[in-house]
Amino acid sequence: MRGLLLCTLLALTACGRQPSPENGGNLAVLNGCTACHSTDGTKKIAPTWQGLYNAEVTLAGGSTIIAGEAYLAESIADPAARIVAGYTEGAMPGYTFTEEEIADLVAYIMSLTP
Ligand code: HEC
Repeated sequence: MRGLLLCTLLALTACGRQPSPENGGNLAVLNGCTACHSTDGTKKIAPTWQGLYNAEVTLAGGSTIIAGEAYLAESIADPAARIVAGYTEGAMPGYTFTEEEIADLVAYIMSLTP
């Protein structure tokens, strides 16, 4: 999992390929992400993605983290790594995405913050 995360970070920065927010949006629908996560601030069973990028997130246990690219990638690649306050571990399913797919999903979520 660490290796995957490192590759994801590399893909986002140094790997040359431009992540595609359009593809990320399609992946989010195809994989059912948007059944739980809204993209417009509406309250569903998971935190909305609108305005999430670079926002301060309070985690279970009370610590806070800025939702930068690495946090978003980690939240998708390893949902149990950090749990948002008020939610339960295991509420988000695990996925097996390629690093490109994770980069595209992250780019899509980033595009939802003006
Ligand atoms: C069955 C509902 C469900 C589905 C489907 C789901 N998630 Fe989640 N997700 C959650 C819940 C609940 C949380 C908050 C708990 C946690 O931190 O794991 C969460 C947390 C997140 C976070 C961190 C949110 C924050 O506010 O810090 C990201 C990013 C995320 N999910 C992305 C995705 C992506 C991308 C997909 C699809 C590939 C997806 N999720 C599918 C329920 C879901």
